Amino acid sequence: MDTKRPLLQRNPWLRWVLFLATMLVVFLVGLFGASVMERRSESYQLLQPVKAIAEWEPRNEVWGENYPREFETYRATIDTTFASLHGGSATIDMLERYPNLVILWAGYAFSRDYLQSRGHYHAVQDIRKTLRTAVPQPATCWTCKSTDVPRLMNQMGVENFYKAKWQDIGHEIQNNIGCQDCHDPQTMNLRITRPALVEAYQRRGIEIQKATHQEMRSQVCAQCHVEYYFKGKTENYLTFPWDKGVTVEEIEKYYDAIEHVDWRHALSQAPMLKAQHPDWELFQAGIHYQRGLSCADCHMPYRAQGGVKFTHHHIASPLSNISGSCQVCHRESEQELTQNVYDRQEKVRQLAGMAEELLARAHIEAKLAIEKGAPPQDLGEAQKMIREAQWRWDFVAASHGGSFHAPLECARILGNAIKKASAARIELAVLLGKLGVPQPIAMPDISTKEKAQAYIGLDMQKNRAEKKSFLQNIMPRWLSKK
Ligand code: HEC
Ligand code: HEC
Ligand code: HEC
Ligand code: HEC
Repeated sequence: MDTKRPLLQRNPWLRWVLFLATMLVVFLVGLFGASVMERRSESYQLLQPVKAIAEWEPRNEVWGENYPREFETYRATIDTTFASLHGGSATIDMLERYPNLVILWAGYAFSRDYLQSRGHYHAVQDIRKTLRTAVPQPATCWTCKSTDVPRLMNQMGVENFYKAKWQDIGHEIQNNIGCQDCHDPQTMNLRITRPALVEAYQRRGIEIQKATHQEMRSQVCAQCHVEYYFKGKTENYLTFPWDKGVTVEEIEKYYDAIEHVDWRHALSQAPMLKAQHPDWELFQAGIHYQRGLSCADCHMPYRAQGGVKFTHHHIASPLSNISGSCQVCHRESEQELTQNVYDRQEKVRQLAGMAEELLARAHIEAKLAIEKGAPPQDLGEAQKMIREAQWRWDFVAASHGGSFHAPLECARILGNAIKKASAARIELAVLLGKLGVPQPIAMPDISTKEKAQAYIGLDMQKNRAEKKSFLQNIMPRWLSKK
């Protein structure tokens, strides 16, 4: 054999092998490319409903037929197993944990029952069950609980919806918070369905329709996770008190200007404000908002599954998913990040505890002053200080995530609450002195929820029995009309 000739010339069939091998590689590369394109169009197709979804469709299952990943992860909000130090979705009886709250809310339904919030899939059941809805409430209370609300508002008109009674439309409210509250069924774009948010911005000259994509990832939450009140004794028109701004002082100025009083305190007779859950307002005072994050960045992070990137819809404490949320930006370990959250929460909690203690004492001392015949005009200043102190404390306490979202702002607010509660107690000490009451006055035993409730004169057995018979009466009717 002539070994000096090149290999290919010696074996002509090798050309064919080389040719075919090249073809195979080209073919495989092509296949891979096609599969990538297909994946891409697959994720694009995600947003093309296979079955059209009707406008105001309240049932998540129906939306879920088109968007199974979002549906399955959203449904996980039914889970109640995750508990963190101060948050999570497990049921915590807040009155048991902090019995002083019973005193702070004497004369108001919250002193009967206050549980820590759970996932969105429990909203309807939880409002039906709470002892707070044993007293007559307006339909406005349903506003942030169900996808049936936008449907009903569209049907009844917004004003008529708010004017109705809570009991009277209960049979219409069957579906928990869901897809329809945040999405347009045709395009799946984020959409605001609650008029109160749109109106609040309008009054400040802001058009929510012009919000950026990143802003919308918070605004959908701001439909519900905000401070609000019911305007008008019969209208009960849901209103966000943001005309002067969204800080605790600006909202207080708004309420003071319209002389808004949520209730007269049963012990101190102070004209009280109840804070709702100003999560969005307080979040804006924190570093993550200032660095451009939205609620969804931590509570609904992206997730990849089989090459498809989608939004993890299990809205819950991000501490249950640190790798998916925080670690997208922070390199620290899960343990350290959790500790960072707990540190901030614990420090704010310390201050909140001090404010609660001072406020409980102030209410009880004011009650004593009233019993000893203090003239109303002499109590005015102390009652005003109590109102202002408790408003500040509640603004922080009711914003469940505030102590992490904006720890410094929470501490500032609680510092002012402590200052004002102390001022109230100094006023009361002088007054009690004038009335000849020996001081310091003895505090009643309010060391447990039960003792505190007995002290403020609540008959919990009666309340529970009333609630039970109310539910026995109304639930079969509500469920049969489903
Ligand atoms: C239609 C009103 C509504 C909207 C919109 C809404 N929420 Fe909620 N959210 C609620 C209610 C009501 C609860 C309490 C449910 C319960 O306790 O039964 C809740 C509970 C929560 C909880 C506590 C869950 C747990 O497991 O402890 C978190 C966290 C939360 N929401 C975050 C968000 C975020 C983030 C958004 C926006 C992406 C959002 N929510 C949008 C009404 C709403
Ligand atoms: C509390 C508000 C909220 C609710 C309720 C909600 N979503 Fe979303 N959804 C979002 C947000 C925020 C995004 C992220 C949007 C973005 O960044 O473009 C999103 C994104 C999506 C997308 C786009 C693809 C993706 O995964 O990013 C689909 C599809 C979707 N959601 C379907 C659903 C379905 C189905 C339900 C009901 C089972 C639902 N959503 C409930 C807020 C919500
Ligand atoms: C930087 C991440 C981050 C962003 C952004 C964020 N949160 Fe949170 N949120 C947290 C953490 C961490 C907690 C504390 C969870 C715990 O204690 O288990 C929390 C707690 C909460 C809670 C209480 C949950 C519970 O389990 O008790 C609610 C409600 C909430 N956030 C709503 C919001 C809303 C609404 C926004 C936007 C306005 C928002 N969050 C933005 C990280 C975030
Ligand atoms: C999208 C990116 C992003 C995500 C997600 C995120 N962070 Fe941050 N975080 C930041 C930025 C930016 C800052 C501001 C610090 C800076 O600019 O260097 C910050 C600041 C902090 C700080 C210091 C704040 C202070 O009080 O001074 C802590 C603690 C923190 N993040 C914890 C968390 C935790 C816990 C989570 C998850 C629940 C989280 N972050 C999620 C971007 C993020």
